[in-house]
Amino acid sequence: MEVIITKNYDEMSKKAAEVIKDVVKKNHSAVLGLATGTTPIGLYKELIAACAKKEISFKNVKTVNLDEYVGLPKEHVQSYDYFMKDNLFNHIDIDIKNTNLPSGVAPDLDAECARYTALLGKMKQSVQLLGLGSNGHIGFNEPKTPFDSTTHIVNLTESTIKDNSRLFDDISEVPTKAITMGIANIMNAEKVLVVASGKNKAKAVYSMVKGPVTEDCPASVLQRHPDVVVVVDEDAASLL
Ligand code: GLP
Repeated sequence: MEVIITKNYDEMSKKAAEVIKDVVKKNHSAVLGLATGTTPIGLYKELIAACAKKEISFKNVKTVNLDEYVGLPKEHVQSYDYFMKDNLFNHIDIDIKNTNLPSGVAPDLDAECARYTALLGKMKQSVQLLGLGSNGHIGFNEPKTPFDSTTHIVNLTESTIKDNSRLFDDISEVPTKAITMGIANIMNAEKVLVVASGKNKAKAVYSMVKGPVTEDCPASVLQRHPDVVVVVDEDAASLL
């Protein structure tokens, strides 16, 4: 695990964007595993700027997203589908047909999990970007998720609902379920890039990098992956 500590959020975003840009420059039809949350927004801005300058192109790039809330229609401003269009896809030269998210409104969610896992089997991520939940979750894989899990439906923990409620008008509007890539799907990526910023992530960063490998901290599984780059700012690295 390579750990890069940056001064602040902007530097974290720039460094992490370099990792993704390198992957796309080396492989024009790379498969990018993408993440939502507030942490990657700066990184996405860097990618948008690089695309505008023609430093990189996403014309042949394909994407697979980690997760989606159950029950929010695509048009909902808090859906991850909306987030990805708003923060990245609408501003780069990607073909929207090459972008994939699990659906949280599929009539048969078990069938949707199977569909997404099969899709991931055909689209190994060249790099998987991850944010980090303050409880150490990755995607929406909450503590105690089995390491061999594939795409599944989760009941979100109270702490995640509380963390994510800042983006909704009221905590009662936060969905209680989500569909997420499993840990095995994440570990299948050729490379993993983790970004974290701020003091409220310091404990999770410590457990991911230096704690025991345990299902109590899903991100700790990354210690077993052969190619992981962690880019964190000083606050998030403060317990390392
Ligand atoms: C959500 C997402 C995760 C994300 C996490 C942290 O729960 N499902 O993929 O990493 O939040 O979000 P933030 O970056 O906003 O702290």
